[in-house]
Amino acid sequence: MNAAVANSLFADLLPEFDRLRRRFPADFASSLVLPCLRRIQERRGWIADEDIGALAAWLPVPRIQIEEALSFYTQFRRAPIGRHHLEVCRNVSCSMRGSERLLAHLRARLGVAEGGTTADGRFTLRTCECLGSCGTAPVMVVDDEYHENMSAEKVDALLGRLD
Ligand code: FES
Repeated sequence: MNAAVANSLFADLLPEFDRLRRRFPADFASSLVLPCLRRIQERRGWIADEDIGALAAWLPVPRIQIEEALSFYTQFRRAPIGRHHLEVCRNVSCSMRGSERLLAHLRARLGVAEGGTTADGRFTLRTCECLGSCGTAPVMVVDDEYHENMSAEKVDALLGRLD
């Protein structure tokens, strides 16, 4: 059994990946790395070592190429996170418009530091670099959805809506 099929999540995604591959020229396997990683993360919630091995075997591309993509794009996660992923932009525009206060509020409310997950597994809190929405700072991404012009009150309302 090859590595791609031994990984059951990857095996589930294979029909979709095969359809994707048919849309690319034969010698463009590298172009499939990012969309495949994105789909794996959507399903698993993070990228496991076995996913990297399965993807490298299926494409095929050198494993290091996948590792490079994972280390460059901070959107990819290499470990499990909480049920809801909270990311607060900490770049200049957001900092000037209160992201440090937002972070302090979140740390106090959730009882975790940046990078931490609440004891009940509901929330993981992280900071991130510029989200390209500086005009609506401060900005948060919650479960891959942008929330702009944020305030402590808006954060509280948002968290209250999440299970
Ligand atoms: S600095 Fe936060 S979105 Fe650009």
